[in-house]
Amino acid sequence: MSGMPLAAPAANATVFDHMASSLNRGTAAPENPFMKLHYASASPFVRKVMACAIELGLDDRIEKIETIPVPTDLNEGLAADNPLAKIPALITDDGSVLYDSRVITAYLNDMAVAGGHAGLVPADGMARWRVLRHEALCDGILDALVVTRYENAMRPEEKRWDEWIDAQLGRATRGLAWLEATLPYWRDGVGLATISTGCVLGYLDFRYGDMDWRAGQPGLAAWYADFSQQPAMLATAPGA
Ligand code: BEZ
Repeated sequence: MSGMPLAAPAANATVFDHMASSLNRGTAAPENPFMKLHYASASPFVRKVMACAIELGLDDRIEKIETIPVPTDLNEGLAADNPLAKIPALITDDGSVLYDSRVITAYLNDMAVAGGHAGLVPADGMARWRVLRHEALCDGILDALVVTRYENAMRPEEKRWDEWIDAQLGRATRGLAWLEATLPYWRDGVGLATISTGCVLGYLDFRYGDMDWRAGQPGLAAWYADFSQQPAMLATAPGA
């Protein structure tokens, strides 16, 4: 890292100027965030965004706005920024609001690459599309797990629709089987694919502790025993 003295970013500096300044610091100044994130530590989608931000050296530039979404109770502040009233939603330095988590991870990755970071996604070719598909798969598993969690935790028991719950859990189960079968192709390094997978497995441990996903996915279990110890995963664990 450069030992050059740092000037405060100019008032009209772009996010890329801020990024370059952040990279030169070694440790970015937490008192100088330039993005805001609607945030809840329990959300696996927020976790993915923050773990990527940590890996990209951008986490100190994100101010967290604690936002507890309740599906049946509109959060007006969140809805003012994201009409879908879902987290995460990122407010950039020019006041643009970005959602959903896949758009945010792509944005942060581009920003870091512009600042000289290698990025968390291959720059081009099929390797890039495979990683983006991997992220989409993990998000789909999480969508199924989160709506099922809401169904089980919030809907009165007599109103639950068992076939619908089974269909959601079927999505998650097939997704996990795909991750297990393809493990040799994506397991290495800390990138968008591995972070996305870690967030799925972390959410299973957090909200589906009685599911014993490790029994059917021994390869994933062994991989996650290591990967869960990555600093970005430890720092973003629910409640951390
Ligand atoms: C949860 O508590 O499981 C949760 C919270 C926010 C978003 C998604 C899930």
